[in-house]
Amino acid sequence: MHGDAVVTRSAGGYTSLLVMELAELRQQVDDVKARLRARLDEVSDPAELEAFRVEFLGRKGEIAGMFKQLGALPQEQRSEAGALLNGLKASASKAFEQRRSEGSRKAVAERLAREAIDVTLPGRSRPVGHLHLLTQVQHEIETIFLHMGFDVASGPEIETDYYNFEALNIPPDHPARDDWDTFYIDDTHLLRPHTSPVQIRVMEKSSPPVRIVCPGRCYRRDTQDSTHSPVFFQVELLWVERGLTLANLRYVIGLFVHEFFGPGYDVRLSGDFFPFTEPSVQLHMREPGAGKWLEIGGAGMVDPAVLENVGYDSESVTGFAFGFGVERMAMLKYGVKDIRTFLANDLRFIRQF
Ligand code: DAH
Repeated sequence: MHGDAVVTRSAGGYTSLLVMELAELRQQVDDVKARLRARLDEVSDPAELEAFRVEFLGRKGEIAGMFKQLGALPQEQRSEAGALLNGLKASASKAFEQRRSEGSRKAVAERLAREAIDVTLPGRSRPVGHLHLLTQVQHEIETIFLHMGFDVASGPEIETDYYNFEALNIPPDHPARDDWDTFYIDDTHLLRPHTSPVQIRVMEKSSPPVRIVCPGRCYRRDTQDSTHSPVFFQVELLWVERGLTLANLRYVIGLFVHEFFGPGYDVRLSGDFFPFTEPSVQLHMREPGAGKWLEIGGAGMVDPAVLENVGYDSESVTGFAFGFGVERMAMLKYGVKDIRTFLANDLRFIRQF
């Protein structure tokens, strides 16, 4: 296509010194135009488009090469030839730009199609869990007593014989130990069968006045049935201060029942026995209008021997204590008929609350 080229070495690289005619150049321009159009039609991605640009429009590209041939033309033909080449360059550039904007428009359209979000689709909802009924009830109970000025305390589930029995006025071999069907770990350690040992732990560490509630897990060697479980929760309450009487206990329990179950409930105290209280009482409550008394827990005035065990002067302070089952409270309030459902992990049950 270049006719008879005579190539010599020059300082700037190879230069073709062509002996040619304007007509020949015209022919070349048409030829390049046809080729670049065909090449452009084949371009299908940005990398190919860039290769096209380098090949035809680059500094060392084909069109730049053609400009170098101008010098080989006779002087009087150069301006026309220049115009011819400028025309070629302009049309190639225009075709390139057009293709590039088409390409990016296409890319944007494709991306929009790919990333389209159908805002009319319904959302995906994630199930949200909630606290177990027993935990909710425990929190309810804590909140009621916190409002009355009690602190929340806790103690270990693995207890020693001392805290669980002896300090609570139940010496070794005392027949009352049989009231707690205890799981022993070894001679001196056990899984606590009640939260009463926390009374001792708190009193040992503080001086009167003491006002605490202690919710916690307990264990007993009980056979499961609708009201018994080897694992269950209790709440212990203890108030020790100068001048407290059974009337204060009666009032606090009445207030708690009112807050937890609602207005109109009756509370009744009847005689009972616990080694750590004297006198000891059993607590019952009665729904408004209903005739049946329901047992809600044991209580009493802290036995002076227990106060002395923790170094308190039983002549100057008195106290009362109260212990009750969390499951029992939850069953009475929420109409749960079987204690086993609390731990059965049946979502149909759990989701109701
Ligand atoms: N600890 C007793 C039990 O588990 C319940 C109890 C009774 C707790 C009387 C007390 C109390 O604080 O004064 O059977």
